[in-house]
Amino acid sequence: MDNSLAEAGIDLLPTHVAIIMDGNGRWAEERKKPRLFGHKAGVDSVKNTVETAREIGIRHLTLYAFSTENWRRPTLEVKGLMSLLKTYLKKELANLQKNDIRLCCLGQREKLPDDVRKVLEKVIDETAGNTTMTLNLALSYGSRDEMLLSIKEIASRCVAGDIDPNSIDEKIFEDYLYTSGQPDPDLMIRTSGEQRLSNFMLWQLSYAELYFTDTKWPDFRRDQFFHALRTYSNRQRRFGKTGAQLRQE
Ligand code: FPP
Repeated sequence: MDNSLAEAGIDLLPTHVAIIMDGNGRWAEERKKPRLFGHKAGVDSVKNTVETAREIGIRHLTLYAFSTENWRRPTLEVKGLMSLLKTYLKKELANLQKNDIRLCCLGQREKLPDDVRKVLEKVIDETAGNTTMTLNLALSYGSRDEMLLSIKEIASRCVAGDIDPNSIDEKIFEDYLYTSGQPDPDLMIRTSGEQRLSNFMLWQLSYAELYFTDTKWPDFRRDQFFHALRTYSNRQRRFGKTGAQLRQE
């Protein structure tokens, strides 16, 4: 752990941080600007957060960028978001390579417009060998949808005789989630004051510490991130055990 973290009162770093980036629209409305103005500012927060996470040694960062429900937004907003995403991916590839960051996608990438999907897959392929940090972008992602997909896949393997139904356990179920092979988030941050999970990583967040802040996503920078990490560092995760048991371990 580096000195700047200790100085900031952070002595325990989460391995995996997941973030619901919320409040772009309200941030723009407060400034009498169109919602897309907020999303554009949100991209700067994405860059800043990825950079900070990589610098301080977080191994997995998941950003909820577009939910299965977000397709219901006005066409212009959806188009604007897709265009921001494509530009971000094209511009960031070099940075991801330089910083040894692997990009993964959680969600129904086949639902994305062809041009966005192609750029996304190029970045995923080219960064596949990077090992310092994994950046998961949740795109057209819904947790219930993800779990149903896993169940369907496992059911068809049972029918084919490849899996014995009695052998199904948490590990097998997780093998069919988008996050297969990755640890569960230790910390979930949601910005903008809303306090709900909105169909985000419902299985994976079972034991995560939850942190809610009133800060809207476009204002979320290193200081706010550090505040969340400090709060996490001061919490005691018991995983069902008592405090006394943990002190003896
Ligand atoms: C929630 O704010 C934010 C989104 C639905 C999209 C998040 C997208 C970005 C930060 C930019 C593009 C992403 C990447 C990875 C380049 P909201 O619109 O729901 O805000 P509101 O609740 O105030 O209306």
